[in-house]
Amino acid sequence: MSKYRAAIIGTGGISRAHAEALKASADRVEIVACVDIDRERAQKFAEQHGIPQSFTDAKEMLDRVKPDLVHICTPPSLHAELSILAVRSGAWVLCEKPLCGSLAELDAIQQAEEETGKYVSSVFQHRFGPGAAHLRQLIREQAMGRLLVGLCNTTWYRDAAYYAVPWRGKWATELGGPTMGHGIHQIDLFLWLCGDWQEVRAMAGTLYHDIEVEDVSMAVVRFENGAMGSITNSVLSPREESYLRFDFEKATVELSHLYGYGPNNWRYTKAPDADPQEFARWSAVPEQRLGGHTAQIAALLDSMDKGERPLVSGAEARRTIEFITALYKAAITGAPVRRGEITPDDPFYHSMNGGFGDMRKMTAKAQ
Ligand SMILES: NC(=O)c1ccc[n+]([C@@H]2O[C@H](COP(=O)([O-])OP(=O)(O)OC[C@H]3O[C@@H](n4cnc5c(N)ncnc54)[C@H](O)[C@@H]3O)[C@@H](O)[C@H]2O)c1
Repeated sequence: MSKYRAAIIGTGGISRAHAEALKASADRVEIVACVDIDRERAQKFAEQHGIPQSFTDAKEMLDRVKPDLVHICTPPSLHAELSILAVRSGAWVLCEKPLCGSLAELDAIQQAEEETGKYVSSVFQHRFGPGAAHLRQLIREQAMGRLLVGLCNTTWYRDAAYYAVPWRGKWATELGGPTMGHGIHQIDLFLWLCGDWQEVRAMAGTLYHDIEVEDVSMAVVRFENGAMGSITNSVLSPREESYLRFDFEKATVELSHLYGYGPNNWRYTKAPDADPQEFARWSAVPEQRLGGHTAQIAALLDSMDKGERPLVSGAEARRTIEFITALYKAAITGAPVRRGEITPDDPFYHSMNGGFGDMRKMTAKAQ
């Protein structure tokens, strides 16, 4: 079978993880082109990774190279536009998070998918560890009883130098603060495991950094299955941690790590009356062969082989983007938001902050 031909658009920080992950599947895919508006950066990246062609314009590359798969690694505000351009050129897309900046953009991506028969998938590498798949299977079986309580904390630290990069810290280009840019990984995994959410209440603020977007947000959420959860996203936390916790009737399951997890990052704790043999099965977290982007890209290539919609796309991508939109709406308006209420006549359908602007001013007003 011939190999898929992949191209990478945006050759900055994260693109290396994509190139390495593609090279790990070198028997199935080859990188045929890369693009960056910074010519030297694109050329250097091509040399480093043995990529035969580099370009400075994405459309020119798509027209000339016609890749089967396009990886989008540019700043967030270009993701939707480039994803649509790429599927219309005949490629499947793996786009870095966040996939887009509004539900309106998400609908435009889905429209392009329907018209072309190609799929746009969002990078959420945390879903692809075997520990997450194992827990999801246990939840499907209701093995540990009902889920009652969940915690989802992304407490990270970012300094002023981090926000000196021009596209960061602004609604127009970063599309949000730690909720949209950092916590989104854990939120996606949390929602995938907890199931559909029903209602969210939230607060957000800009407490420290001189940025337009929030530097902290906190939300409480009620799920369709009756469980309740809390979600914290911060870039103000010197002891950094990514932490998920699920309290079921018969066990607590925790995941604690920073930017990537393995089997040892999971902890299962038995409820006093749970069966010890059953507990041994639940807590046997499988070994991890592939991690991070490598695991997600291998799964995407499987989907391409089968011609099937990849895991983190369509409705699965919508759940997370809709939830984050609702979290911002709840924080900005002060009112609870229910799933499904943000429709095209709502300003929050068109942008994450509903056109309300600078979070610094909103924080000052609230104090
Ligand atoms: N999945 C993860 O764990 C993870 C980690 C870090 C970053 N990211 C995401 O990856 C994306 C990129 O982040 P980064 O840290 O690599 O940013 P970066 O600024 O280091 O790199 C972005 C690159 O895109 C290039 N670019 C800008 N406009 C372009 C255009 N029109 N065409 C082609 N290239 C263009 C820039 O010149 C730059 O080289 C962001 O969305 C970020 O949120 C994801």
